[in-house]
Amino acid sequence: MGFLGRTTAALSLLASIAAAKHYDVTVGKNGQLRFDPETLVAEIGDTITYNYFARNHSVTQSSFEKPCQPEAGGFFSGFVPTESPDVASRTTFTITVKDSKPIWVYCSQTNGNHCQSGMVHAINAPSQGNTFAKFKDLAAIAPTSTSPPDGLPVGGIRKLHVDVGLNGTLTYSPNNITELPRTVVSFSFNPRNHTVTQSSFDKPCFPLPNNSGFSSGFIATTQSPSGATFEIVIPDTKPIWFYCGQVNGNHCQAGMVGSINAPVVGNTLEAFIAKAKVAPPPSVIPPIAPLGGKVFVKGKEILKFNLNGGNAIDVDQILGIAPPPVTVSGTIYPPMGTGKPSTLVTVTRPNTATYTTKTETVTTKPYYTYGGEGEYKPTATATYSKGWGKGGDEACDEEGSGSGEWSGEWKSKSWEKGY
Ligand SMILES: *[C@@H]1O[C@H](CO)[C@@H](O)[C@H](O)[C@H]1NC(C)=O
Ligand SMILES: *[C@@H]1O[C@H](CO)[C@@H](O)[C@H](O)[C@H]1NC(C)=O
Ligand SMILES: *[C@@H]1O[C@H](CO)[C@@H](O)[C@H](O)[C@H]1NC(C)=O
Ligand SMILES: *[C@@H]1O[C@H](CO)[C@@H](O)[C@H](O)[C@H]1NC(C)=O
Ligand SMILES: *[C@@H]1O[C@H](CO)[C@@H](O)[C@H](O)[C@H]1NC(C)=O
Repeated sequence: MGFLGRTTAALSLLASIAAAKHYDVTVGKNGQLRFDPETLVAEIGDTITYNYFARNHSVTQSSFEKPCQPEAGGFFSGFVPTESPDVASRTTFTITVKDSKPIWVYCSQTNGNHCQSGMVHAINAPSQGNTFAKFKDLAAIAPTSTSPPDGLPVGGIRKLHVDVGLNGTLTYSPNNITELPRTVVSFSFNPRNHTVTQSSFDKPCFPLPNNSGFSSGFIATTQSPSGATFEIVIPDTKPIWFYCGQVNGNHCQAGMVGSINAPVVGNTLEAFIAKAKVAPPPSVIPPIAPLGGKVFVKGKEILKFNLNGGNAIDVDQILGIAPPPVTVSGTIYPPMGTGKPSTLVTVTRPNTATYTTKTETVTTKPYYTYGGEGEYKPTATATYSKGWGKGGDEACDEEGSGSGEWSGEWKSKSWEKGY
């Protein structure tokens, strides 16, 4: 038995030019009041991402002279409360090095005097004169720390990472987001075919009027993670409600909804989920995408959605990832030579949302008959179209075709399309 794969149109991505370097720094890992590494040497254009651990730290720029006070015009991440000492918060803060001057940093948490306890950090600290060691000594005797008064991130990118449909589940993780205004919420898409669309509390599975809310559009992928993200910026402290508008499987009604800064009483996320459950299908999303945010595939912004009327993309197609082929095998009986019709054919086709395979036994129509002389290798072609598996298996929403081949001593005049 053999098979022929199908081809997929492949779009090539421009390789991005990696000039700038990227560094990761941990903030308070394993319960320590410490940045790791404490010091860094970085060049203009390099980026540094701060990864937070329990309990509730900040990354705040100071001057050398006043280690535990914010410097005017400096960066501030805002506080990042988180539970785990060894699993980083989903919230990160990233700065870009803008010049070659030393950058002095501290944690402004006063509960426990983090800065005075040595929770300081420096980029491009001189090795003589105003050294990092001296900065730390100054911090130890510094008066009580302060933070920028509005408490909001500035001078860098505060980003919350949310997984969409992780492990094939109809979920956003987390779905109950509490975040500061100005924070970028980055939704990372996993298989299958989901959206992140803004709704109102009252109509959970329906977009805001006049395309005034955000919508990622349908983002289909078989890869986990796919490299596809949808990013929005939280504008203010008002509650934000969102849902997945996939009708195939009624994702919204199945609980694939979430909130940003939902009230803890009254219109809570739990109340929203309950409303979504009884929202009349089908869900709707705006006809164009992306709206109110940006879609990236492996860092490249997708400005325009061209497929399916402008609100859907197939990430595999963008990345040139070919689906696995359809394979066909068969039990053909009664045996050759009897002149009787075939009865069974087994098709293994990709369950395209995850690329696991699915085997299907098809009882064919009686179109195969033995009719004459000569050796023949029967072949069969399987085609499947969008929507295949509807009902039982909403995961499959691609189309394609493949063919399989039996070899053998069978004698036949014709083997036509099998199913
Ligand atoms: C984190 O610390 C800041 C500053 O002390 C405080 O305002 C905020 O309430 C804390 N957040 C949590 C969740 O404890
Ligand atoms: C996804 O699977 C991983 C590994 O199997 C597991 O640790 C994680 O909790 C799962 N997440 C969800 C949202 O199901
Ligand atoms: C979100 O839900 C998780 C799990 O149910 C819970 O542990 C966490 O406290 C909730 N967070 C917020 C901000 O409500
Ligand atoms: C939507 O746009 C129409 C036409 O511009 C306008 O009449 C209507 O009031 C808008 N609706 C909302 C809810 O903003
Ligand atoms: C994703 O789902 C939408 C809505 O059901 C559909 O129009 C689109 O074709 C799907 N994309 C893929 C690649 O299956």
